[in-house]
Amino acid sequence: MTPTPESTLNVGVDMPGGRMASLGVRFPVMVAPMVGISHVAFRAMLRRYAPKGLDPIIFTEMLSTRRLPSERLETTAELRCTEGEKSGAELFVPQLLGNEERFITPSIAKLSALRPWGYDINMGCPATHVLKHNWGVRLMGEPKYAADVVRLVRACTDRPVSVKMRGGSDKICDLNYLDEFTQALEEGGADWLTIHARTREQGHEGRADWQLVSEIAKRRKVAVVANGDIQTSADAVSILRDFGVDGVMVARAATVRPWILWQIAEDLGWQESPMGREGERAPRSRAEESAEFFRACLFLIDELDHHFNDRPEDALKKFSFFAATGSRWFMFGHAFWAVTKKAKSIGHLRELIEDYRDRFDHPLKERII
Ligand SMILES: Cc1cc2nc3c(=O)[nH]c(=O)nc-3n(C[C@H](O)[C@H](O)[C@H](O)COP(=O)(O)O)c2cc1C
Repeated sequence: MTPTPESTLNVGVDMPGGRMASLGVRFPVMVAPMVGISHVAFRAMLRRYAPKGLDPIIFTEMLSTRRLPSERLETTAELRCTEGEKSGAELFVPQLLGNEERFITPSIAKLSALRPWGYDINMGCPATHVLKHNWGVRLMGEPKYAADVVRLVRACTDRPVSVKMRGGSDKICDLNYLDEFTQALEEGGADWLTIHARTREQGHEGRADWQLVSEIAKRRKVAVVANGDIQTSADAVSILRDFGVDGVMVARAATVRPWILWQIAEDLGWQESPMGREGERAPRSRAEESAEFFRACLFLIDELDHHFNDRPEDALKKFSFFAATGSRWFMFGHAFWAVTKKAKSIGHLRELIEDYRDRFDHPLKERII
């Protein structure tokens, strides 16, 4: 594994994140893979909230290795990247779904042209079509087999390789099993591991077991990152400082407060603001966050327009799905989502959002559970 040279600079503050730093990571805060959400426009919108000097690692949505070899980098929506990503300046990680050498090897050969910072293997998805192929969380059922999948990916690249998994594949998060499983992945050559500390049966509901991630972090040599239920900057900072993990991965909260990256950096002592927001502090009060949400929506619309202007209907669907995911954090979120469904074009969507912003109160809840 080769760290990116420019990412090994001294951060200048006492940034937590221990073993991620040894991979050259300056900011141990990542944004999770989310199907239908983690496309190029969303990643570009999120980076507008990254303070100067800190580039977050942002995942793509999961990519099927069965399909990748025959897909075209220029036209496939899920493979579109920013110029910064393609130049290696912006860190992104494609997430791979699969288990077979004949598909994984050509998939990585193809993706390498996009210069990803690393590669992740999905071992957490519980969808039926994924389980049918023994991908996703099914791989958690057999440590040796899962480790062989890591070996396959490891053999294809000198970039960091990670695995994103659940706390348990069955009804309980079992520490002993997770210990055995993560040890096998480590031996298979994984450079770091992300644990979504919920079971397969929990889906995305209920509290995540951060203590479990903490226990695994103590037992592993490689970096361990916590995911699940990180809804506020206070959550992220507490997990980093009190649970001894090496990084945090935010998922749905990034659809409702994408400036969480800015808040976390600020709470960790980083002084810089994002580009274009010099001298400003991250939004914090209910009113500031509600106003910022509409700004984020308009940023996302601009990016959708830029990256998907050849597929306007797809762009509208992507926005609507983003709104649906975040709407749970809003009072009357459903009404907002319903408005986004009425848009006939990107220009119309912009008008609808501005109109909604000017006419309605849109209070954002701190947490949903
Ligand atoms: C709409 C949606 C799509 C998701 N797609 C993926 C995916 O492609 N790969 C993956 O590993 N996890 C996926 N997840 C799971 C998230 O990455 C994350 O593990 C989960 O939402 C828990 O984090 P949270 O509680 O902070 O949202 C998805 C979640 C959502 C809500």
